[in-house]
Amino acid sequence: MEARTTGTRRGVEVTIRGLTKRFGQGDNRIVAADDVSLHVPAGQRVAVVGASGSGKSTLLHLIGGMERVDSGTITVGDREVTALGRRELSVYRRSVGFVFQRFHLLPALTVLDNVLAPVLPRRVEFDRTERARQLLAAVGLLDRAQAVPSQLSGGQQQRVAVARALIGDPRLILADEPTGNLDSATGREMMELVDRLVAEQGLTLLVATHDDGVAAHCDRIIRIRDGRIVDDTAR
Ligand SMILES: Nc1ncnc2c1ncn2[C@@H]1O[C@H](COP(=O)(O)OP(=O)(O)O)[C@@H](O)[C@H]1O
Ligand SMILES: [Mg+2]
Repeated sequence: MEARTTGTRRGVEVTIRGLTKRFGQGDNRIVAADDVSLHVPAGQRVAVVGASGSGKSTLLHLIGGMERVDSGTITVGDREVTALGRRELSVYRRSVGFVFQRFHLLPALTVLDNVLAPVLPRRVEFDRTERARQLLAAVGLLDRAQAVPSQLSGGQQQRVAVARALIGDPRLILADEPTGNLDSATGREMMELVDRLVAEQGLTLLVATHDDGVAAHCDRIIRIRDGRIVDDTAR
């Protein structure tokens, strides 16, 4: 895929060194990340592929500060995530845009309030509602702003989740099988949308996926097996 030619490049660089994460004890011990080292330049779109249980989600959770590492370092932009204390870590987490397989929308809130939710408790330098409306327009759902998630299709709910991921002006997007609960045509539309939004701003994207169509939107494909990177291919 051609390098982007648009002017803006707001993405951050991600550098991982010797990352290890284990779960469980004794015979049940699993090494979900096994001495992973990885450098992702600012603005790169990386697909993380591998069988179920290979460690894709764990890697994204560690990068996003949702889980603590056992050893190794993760640096995102000028922040060493692995050195942050609890408070700093929660500030950092809010600076990352997450998209999950199961959308994770709040069922009682309207679409607009779901998009706003991550920035409601924060002081921000933009008009929250205006930005939420712009993002809903960008994902083609401004006319559903007052609907609740159950009134939307799966594809629409995931588009709301994408708008929500972007509300805090993230420079890094972590998407965990974002098309995993969508049919293939809807999944393709979803990835075109994510790609367009990410490319417009030159954001860094890491996307865990089983879907070759998603990987086709990326600059690079990393394959993991048993918590290790076994292949790393630039496209
Ligand atoms: N919170 C957890 N507690 C125990 N084991 C876990 C936990 N999270 C992940 N694992 C294990 O770590 C391995 C990697 O899981 P995961 O990162 O979810 O893989 P993937 O996303 O590629 O399917 C699996 O064996 C999984 O069972
Ligand atoms: Mg997973």
